[in-house]
Amino acid sequence: MRLAYRIRLRQDPLAYIEELSRASTAGVMPLPWGGWCVRDTALAQSLLRDPEYHTGGSVFFGGLLPERGAQMELGRAVRGLMRAGVPRYRAALPEAVTALPTASRWPDAGTRLVHRCLQDVLLHPGTPASIHELMRQAAHEGVAVRSAYVWQRARAELVRARLVAAVTEEAHRRRRQPAREPRDMLDAVLAVCPRARVPDRTVAALHLMMFRAIMAPVSASLAWSVLLACLHHTRTVPWPWSVDHVVREALRHRPVPWMLGRTLPRAVELGGTVFPPGELLSVCPYLLHHDERHWDDPDSFRPGRWAESGGHGPYVPFGTGPFSCAGAAVAHTLLTESLTALTQHARLAVTGADTRAVMSEGNVPRPFTLHRTPAPPAHPTGRR
Ligand code: HEM
Repeated sequence: MRLAYRIRLRQDPLAYIEELSRASTAGVMPLPWGGWCVRDTALAQSLLRDPEYHTGGSVFFGGLLPERGAQMELGRAVRGLMRAGVPRYRAALPEAVTALPTASRWPDAGTRLVHRCLQDVLLHPGTPASIHELMRQAAHEGVAVRSAYVWQRARAELVRARLVAAVTEEAHRRRRQPAREPRDMLDAVLAVCPRARVPDRTVAALHLMMFRAIMAPVSASLAWSVLLACLHHTRTVPWPWSVDHVVREALRHRPVPWMLGRTLPRAVELGGTVFPPGELLSVCPYLLHHDERHWDDPDSFRPGRWAESGGHGPYVPFGTGPFSCAGAAVAHTLLTESLTALTQHARLAVTGADTRAVMSEGNVPRPFTLHRTPAPPAHPTGRR
């Protein structure tokens, strides 16, 4: 059984979870690898929203920052910094897009693009060049987005350890000369982590955690947006949809987060079953986004649905309720800005595409090639 589910997960994780859900009639189904998945849409929304399931801290921060107040403060601080960094991200995009070869290999090329435009927000330009270089390696070599291959993961471990050591030293240096205003994400983390309670090494681990929490879903969602839009519009004229609708639909059709987990703070009854405290219950955004009772034609990638007033069901690519993503709005902006830059004065096409996801820490697209061909603007300057 163990091997069988591993193979199915590797082949097509989203088809597999759908198959498991179809085979079950219970509101909450057991998962072959342990824990439970709340497959009933109404129960799933109640698990994500109801305060009674959120009395502890969020599993997102693991043991690094156990206190809920500190978790929320960190989320707000990083969100504020990212929001302030959007103009810098936007300004860096044209050069990063121009640097792409005519045929680029995605999703890796997307991860590099996102990192190149975000690097000064993650660590300001005055940070020692050796740490910038380690961050670059972390973005390019499987630390930011975990590789599906074991040998690459072993190499990434080395880079990760060196990066944490270097950022620990940098945190120590900065604590001796604190900045008046946060210049980058490390300053933002330091601002909410008192020296007496949070050691330098934990600060570095939190910085790395946020780096990955931003880089992995933004770059995978960008890759899905490019891939799905290109597969559904193969003509040479510009896409008939707004980039906003493409991003929304990609986040619905292929939500990157695989499962949103809640560890039960006490015994609860859900869907007719009583679960003991400490049990892990999860919600699969993909199942909610493909529920035929709530969405019109859920299995079609159709950005145009976002221009229609009805036919929309529960939409949780960023979660919902007390533990939902602190950076949802800013993430959406980064994605639409990136897609605008990629499509501006260019035609996009993909080859070698496969819409099955590969399981990393979430649903990541399989490698494909993006062909970006410069094209004259549809309306020459001075004419509309
Ligand atoms: C496309 C990009 C992104 C996606 C899909 C995404 C998705 C998510 C999801 C699903 C969660 C957990 C929600 C839950 O358990 O209910 C989460 C948590 C979080 N995300 Fe994001 N995220 C993205 C980008 C970002 C960015 C750019 C930031 C930067 C501010 C960020 C900061 C956070 C934080 C701080 C949490 C923990 C929230 C808490 O427990 O208080 N995320 N994200």
